[in-house]
Amino acid sequence: MNKILVTGGKGFLGSHIVARLQQEGYQVRVLARPRPDAAPSSNGSYEVIAADIRDADAVEQAMRGMDAVIHLVSNFRKGGSDKEDAYAVNVEGSQNVLRAAHKHHVQRVVHCSTIGVHGTVLSIPANETTPFNPTDLYQETKLVAERLVWKFYEKTQLPITVIRPISLIGPHDTRMLKLFRMIQQGRFIMMGQGDAFFQPAYIDDVVDGFMLALTHPQAVGEAFIVGGEEYVPLRELVTMIAEELHVAPPKIRIPLEPMLIAASLCESVCVPLKIEPPLHRRRMSFFQNNRAFSVEKARKLLGFEPQYNLREALRATIRWYKEQNWL
Ligand SMILES: NC(=O)c1ccc[n+]([C@@H]2O[C@H](COP(=O)([O-])OP(=O)(O)OC[C@H]3O[C@@H](n4cnc5c(N)ncnc54)[C@H](OP(=O)(O)O)[C@@H]3O)[C@@H](O)[C@H]2O)c1
Repeated sequence: MNKILVTGGKGFLGSHIVARLQQEGYQVRVLARPRPDAAPSSNGSYEVIAADIRDADAVEQAMRGMDAVIHLVSNFRKGGSDKEDAYAVNVEGSQNVLRAAHKHHVQRVVHCSTIGVHGTVLSIPANETTPFNPTDLYQETKLVAERLVWKFYEKTQLPITVIRPISLIGPHDTRMLKLFRMIQQGRFIMMGQGDAFFQPAYIDDVVDGFMLALTHPQAVGEAFIVGGEEYVPLRELVTMIAEELHVAPPKIRIPLEPMLIAASLCESVCVPLKIEPPLHRRRMSFFQNNRAFSVEKARKLLGFEPQYNLREALRATIRWYKEQNWL
């Protein structure tokens, strides 16, 4: 197995997976959304196919000649995205990938899901058997896509593995950067008590999980949660970040409920107008949802072993942000 298609290979996780595949000698083709500057080309080290994941023919073309596919495309955390678009990208896009992979007899499909399919976790740590409980449109569509994957697997026996990454941090991430910046600038306000658990996973650990999913014989037909192992209450996480940034830990707290109402109102006005709401419920879920997961299944079946503890992951992320002058 040598030729790997990575859908969403220019995104945060995708860019790291592409780099690792190249380091390990794979030949990489990336499917990236068409842009004026992204005609079918090569960036010098890998081939780029400009295609929208919703375009079944284009996905089929991109799959030609490939031995395996890692499917990452998602309209991730777009608060303003409507239901139709979320389903088209996350669900129909996945269906296009599965059909094309089946048609071209690829040897492995690694489908990227999310721990978000479990929603907020009641009994911690959760694992792959924890009931699904998506709490927003993104998680809901990721779950519909994952169910589609398993139906397809039962029907075709296409060798598929599902990875559910834990929330990622690391170089090239711009989502968690906002949290680090707010803490550094003393602008972070805790909504609620900060007692929901949070479990940031360092990007390199998650990439390790994808590499095992791509190659390990025991990975086929299984879903794996991958990431770091340490989870802490959000208030402890922000204190750790403040310590690593050498600033005072955030002190201001406000009740969560009024903010939830405000977020709901913002969404009801902005989403129909296709505007990204300044406040949306998904952002609020950051303060609400318990995220605490076990990676034992991946450890036992695949030999997965996270290399970064939480403090090391935060430190490495902060170092990179500083190198970019982002902090
Ligand atoms: N980051 C996390 O914490 C996390 C946690 C769990 C699971 N995941 C999953 O990991 C995967 C990658 O996430 P990420 O953090 O790397 O997000 P990302 O940086 O937003 O990457 C997603 C990629 O998908 C591309 N894309 C979106 N819509 C497309 C379309 N219609 N056609 C073709 N490409 C399209 C985006 O291209 P554009 O740049 O053109 O928009 C982007 O390159 C996703 O499946 C996500 O659900 C992420």
